[in-house]
Amino acid sequence: LSKSNQASPAFDRERAEGAGALRAALLRWYREHARPLPWRRTNDPYAIWVSEVMLQQTQIATVIPYYERFLRAFPSCECLAKAHFGRVAELWSGLGYYRRARLLHAGARKVLKDFGGQFPARYEEARKIPGVGHYTASAVLSIAYGKPVPVLDGNVARVLARLEGRRGNLAQLNFRRAVERQLNLLISIRKPGSFNQALMELGQTTCLPRDPRCGACPVHRWCRALQLGRPQDFPAPRPRRAIERRHLAAAAIYDNHKIALVRGLDEGLVRDLWNFPSVFGASEREAVERLAARLELLSGSPLELRGPVARLRHGITFRSIEVEVYAGHLRRLSPRTKKFHWTTLSMLQRTGASQLAKKIGSVLEQMRLG
Ligand code: ADE
Repeated sequence: LSKSNQASPAFDRERAEGAGALRAALLRWYREHARPLPWRRTNDPYAIWVSEVMLQQTQIATVIPYYERFLRAFPSCECLAKAHFGRVAELWSGLGYYRRARLLHAGARKVLKDFGGQFPARYEEARKIPGVGHYTASAVLSIAYGKPVPVLDGNVARVLARLEGRRGNLAQLNFRRAVERQLNLLISIRKPGSFNQALMELGQTTCLPRDPRCGACPVHRWCRALQLGRPQDFPAPRPRRAIERRHLAAAAIYDNHKIALVRGLDEGLVRDLWNFPSVFGASEREAVERLAARLELLSGSPLELRGPVARLRHGITFRSIEVEVYAGHLRRLSPRTKKFHWTTLSMLQRTGASQLAKKIGSVLEQMRLG
């Protein structure tokens, strides 16, 4: 445990006294430089909730069009609560971390049922909503309701760690506690939403992980890491989750001009979206053998798989997937082939299909044209 992670009460007091000028400089910078992001045009707690859920594991540039489409489709909590999940899944497809969509939908139902459709302004109540953890509750309460609760994410932690010249990372309890204490002293009571977003913004645009732009930073005067000479070395890097590499065998089964789709991919992934029948394996060979077995079971018919006729790579969450596509021919149509959803390649792009299915579909379409 490094010494710099432990702040003393005297140190805290000194910081609190110096905090006023830092806070003012940060808020002034935010007023002048805040990017005009679509969720910053509203005080609607529901809209801010949606944005915070989308922003949790996804980059801002990706989120913007999804956020706008989502709010056009479901402009209120009530609209979302009453929607079919299939439609929600469709609008989420491509954003990733798809479980968030299920929780958001369940959350909207809870808010409609128990809180009259209004996202609660009290922390304890907000936490009763499915999918609303400490982070989301704090973000919505501070931004939409002006409650003085700090929000700590990776960007904020980096900014604060640099200000104090603190090593360590958020996975370490003592680091997290120290940063939380620092944040509690620093937060603006009058403008907590702007304050929280200012720190996020500073981390996203200026106090960058590898290449901090200290010349443009409104609080560089107070930055211990800069004084020490190598701000990019703070905080210590966080261990990354290993990327899992897998093979996925997918079947393109034609009957005339229609192609067979099923709900879900494999292993419970994207359960509510249409996909080519697919099975994971550790190797190409294992994947295709398991796919053949699965398809015989599913269709009740012996099946011939030819290929792979196409290969592509796809990333879902922390998986990097090598996809091999096989052409499948049913030797006879049995009643069980009704389990498939038959559609055309061009319809595929417009229905509630997964990103991967759309990607495979456009590769197949190109092959047919080429
Ligand atoms: N990341 C999470 N919440 C955000 C917000 N309100 N603005 C910018 N980035 C964010």
